[in-house]
Amino acid sequence: MSALIVRKPVIAGNWKMNMTCSQAQRYMSEFLPLISDVPHDRNIVLAPPFTALSTLSALIDNSSVQLSSQNVHWEDSGAFTAEISPMMLIEHKVQYAIVGHSEPRKYFSESDEQINLRAISAQSHGLIPIVCVGESFEQRERGEAERVIRRQVEQGLENTNLQKLIIAYEPIWAIGTGKTCEAKEANRICSLIRKWAGSNELIIQYGGSVKPANIDEIMSMSDIDGVLVGGASLEAEGFARIANYQIE
Ligand code: 13P
Repeated sequence: MSALIVRKPVIAGNWKMNMTCSQAQRYMSEFLPLISDVPHDRNIVLAPPFTALSTLSALIDNSSVQLSSQNVHWEDSGAFTAEISPMMLIEHKVQYAIVGHSEPRKYFSESDEQINLRAISAQSHGLIPIVCVGESFEQRERGEAERVIRRQVEQGLENTNLQKLIIAYEPIWAIGTGKTCEAKEANRICSLIRKWAGSNELIIQYGGSVKPANIDEIMSMSDIDGVLVGGASLEAEGFARIANYQIE
């Protein structure tokens, strides 16, 4: 008899380079009451900019919200201008770290090797890395999507503990474009990722134009264990609706 595997969904909001501390404070005063009845069968995570981490960590004390950073470096300290150390994050009760998002991959040429170092460093300090993978529009058109994602998964996850890691499948063409990947296609890719990673326990999120109107369908998919939300997480009411997703 095979053991029942329960993957607790993770609903995460990536604020990217948005929200000052005062905006974050106003957001939380609207958001927290709206999620006070969210079922405990899911985790709710916010990834604000570094400057708002301390504001948020003071506000989430008795709530069900957890904190993520948008990056983490592989060294504890040193001459790494503009980077953030895992020690600095832990001090603010941060529990997750997004690594390998397509924006730093594209704008700062982040490599799979660097992303892997970040994931390992996060884990060695008790942070759960959220490793982002996904193909561009051109790669999908050329029929290369699966090969690209497989490489990102295999190189990004090398020497990591898959029980303390999340993968976010974010097709680049679906990010900030309003074009969501069809739920069935996203599910197909997520099940391939699970196979390539070789773990039935791995939590795999979908990201890319997730919104209140499509969250219930996305969360009803068998291999999608949560979402990584950009634009729609900036609006407290909409993100609270996403966090309150319901499956028929
Ligand atoms: P959008 O939800 O705005 O498409 O962004 C997705 C994303 O990049 C989350 O990390």
